[in-house]
Amino acid sequence: MQLTGKTAVITGGAKGIGSACVRALHAEGASIAILDVEDYGSELAAGLGERVIFIHCDVSRESDVSAAMAEVNDRLGGPDILVNNAGIQRYTTVTETTEEEWDLVMNVNLKSAFLCAKHAIPHMQARGAGVVVNISSVQAFISQKTVAPYVTSKTALLGLTRSIAVDYGPQIRCVAVCPGTIDTPMLRDAIQLSPDPEAVYQECMDMHLVKRIGTPEEVAALVLLVAGPQGGFFTGQAIRIDGGLGVTIAGSKRED
Ligand SMILES: NC(=O)c1ccc[n+]([C@@H]2O[C@H](COP(=O)([O-])OP(=O)(O)OC[C@H]3O[C@@H](n4cnc5c(N)ncnc54)[C@H](O)[C@@H]3O)[C@@H](O)[C@H]2O)c1
Repeated sequence: MQLTGKTAVITGGAKGIGSACVRALHAEGASIAILDVEDYGSELAAGLGERVIFIHCDVSRESDVSAAMAEVNDRLGGPDILVNNAGIQRYTTVTETTEEEWDLVMNVNLKSAFLCAKHAIPHMQARGAGVVVNISSVQAFISQKTVAPYVTSKTALLGLTRSIAVDYGPQIRCVAVCPGTIDTPMLRDAIQLSPDPEAVYQECMDMHLVKRIGTPEEVAALVLLVAGPQGGFFTGQAIRIDGGLGVTIAGSKRED
């Protein structure tokens, strides 16, 4: 039980990677606050028991975030760990993206991490230590087509990660976790947009060196490592968990 006595706030914790983080950190003894706009986060919280609360919170709105962090401090103490995981995807190029779509993606994927860190860090400082984990993406390094706002937001999260690590160390660490393709509702919804979802799913598997898609539990295990007592030497960096995606170059395939 590495996290007994600790409190973790997990944004977007109602499903996908976020819910796997909720389970993994809870299993190690942490009290958990799930911040999400989807009310089924309350069912997840109820199923896990007393040490888990659900707070309906749009993490792109400062009034929601400041109220949520105050509620976490009152009900659970802390937070000691913040996992900025909430995110959305939109499929557009720069010339296709409306100003509203751009702002929406930036607000949910990037501004939320700034706001949650802004309102969590003072509580961490009061307790003498804390860890912020930003869920970025392998797309902070390599990009698929037609996801310009998403790629921009995920790349900017690396800058935010460095700034938090530099400004608040040594008491507070900040790490970016950058997953490859992970089997979550976000991925399934994206694949359904294609005329041949099965072919796209196969393509997703094939493009990773390990020839499969990752699981939310694998990402949660990395989050647990960097946020827990054994992760004390991780800070300011981006860590990829991507099954070798993007390691090969075109033309490197050979028939044996
Ligand atoms: N699935 C992948 O392949 C993949 C790969 C790399 C990075 N990521 C990143 O991992 C994170 C989680 O992705 P996922 O695949 O589990 O997504 P998901 O869509 O399955 O879950 C995202 C969660 O965020 C919540 N959310 C969305 N907007 C919110 C808001 N304004 N306020 C509060 N909560 C909000 C949703 O309700 C949902 O519960 C995202 O940041 C995503 O960009 C995912």
